[in-house]
Amino acid sequence: MFERNRNTTVIVVGNQKGGVGKTTNTIQLAGALSERGRRSLIIDLDMTSGATKALGAPTDGWISSFELLTGAENAEDTIITHEEPEVRLPPQVHLVPSSRKLAELDTFLAQNPWLIQQDLLLQPMERLRGMYDYVFLDTPPQKTKTTIPALKAADFAVLSTMPDHLAVSAMAEALSDIVAAQKQANAKLALLGVIVCAVPRPKTRLSRELVAYLERTCVDAQGQSLKFRTEISRSVAVQEAQKVGQTLLQYRGDHPVADEYRTLAREFEERLAFLKQRPPILLTEEVAHA
Ligand SMILES: Nc1ncnc2c1ncn2[C@@H]1O[C@H](COP(=O)(O)OP(=O)(O)OP(=O)(O)O)[C@@H](O)[C@H]1O
Ligand SMILES: [Mg+2]
Repeated sequence: MFERNRNTTVIVVGNQKGGVGKTTNTIQLAGALSERGRRSLIIDLDMTSGATKALGAPTDGWISSFELLTGAENAEDTIITHEEPEVRLPPQVHLVPSSRKLAELDTFLAQNPWLIQQDLLLQPMERLRGMYDYVFLDTPPQKTKTTIPALKAADFAVLSTMPDHLAVSAMAEALSDIVAAQKQANAKLALLGVIVCAVPRPKTRLSRELVAYLERTCVDAQGQSLKFRTEISRSVAVQEAQKVGQTLLQYRGDHPVADEYRTLAREFEERLAFLKQRPPILLTEEVAHA
């Protein structure tokens, strides 16, 4: 389907806390990267199909991430491309949709005892390497059967959070998930950064304090901040775009939050280039428990 001449980076977008912007940031970032000429694939690993719906794709009746994970179909045969007339994906943004069949993954694994859950995405990622600049793995809340394989197969992790008390207090756990994955399953996994989104404008005193707290606590082993400098503002336009199945860049490309995502995409690629040049500094457990 495509030439395999790209240097593919696989990114897991995580945080076991629900509703902290994982899916929103994944699709907007892929959209902003497409404006920079990059081709991305989003794999929706959440059976509630957040990314699939937000991109206006059908949630059932299509080959989905279930068939990709189980090997029932070759990875490349599960992809919806931007050329598919029934779905209006942004240019250069492709999707492996999810479906409710993901609920059957447990049963499938029980019936196939030789398959190892944590390795389910390794072969599909090998098949896709070279076809994309970025493969984004959008994970569900909770450490489910699809989160573990995503942490094992990724090159980098991006965490998403919002400046509210519950989201901020869940960050220590999100960081320690990355440390555990590095130690136990995927030594090459590096944390690229933490996206802080849905920041109220003007910033309230509480949101200023929470963002400052994240700045202090989300640091690598050398004390460098892991938070992306670019923060994403809260805006109803983000939700309106999702309701009509478009990225904000498609729906209102002139919106200030669309510009924030463009700036974030630049920072994302700068950080990636920097970390690829030098071995990433692993997080320490002390940091994860800050
Ligand atoms: N910048 C923003 N401004 C306003 N609302 C936002 C913004 N970013 C995300 N949201 C909203 O916050 C909610 C949660 O976002 P999202 O679904 O992306 O989180 P999630 O972490 O993927 O959730 P889940 O864990 O359920 O998959 C959604 O309703 C989304 O529209
Ligand atoms: Mg989601």
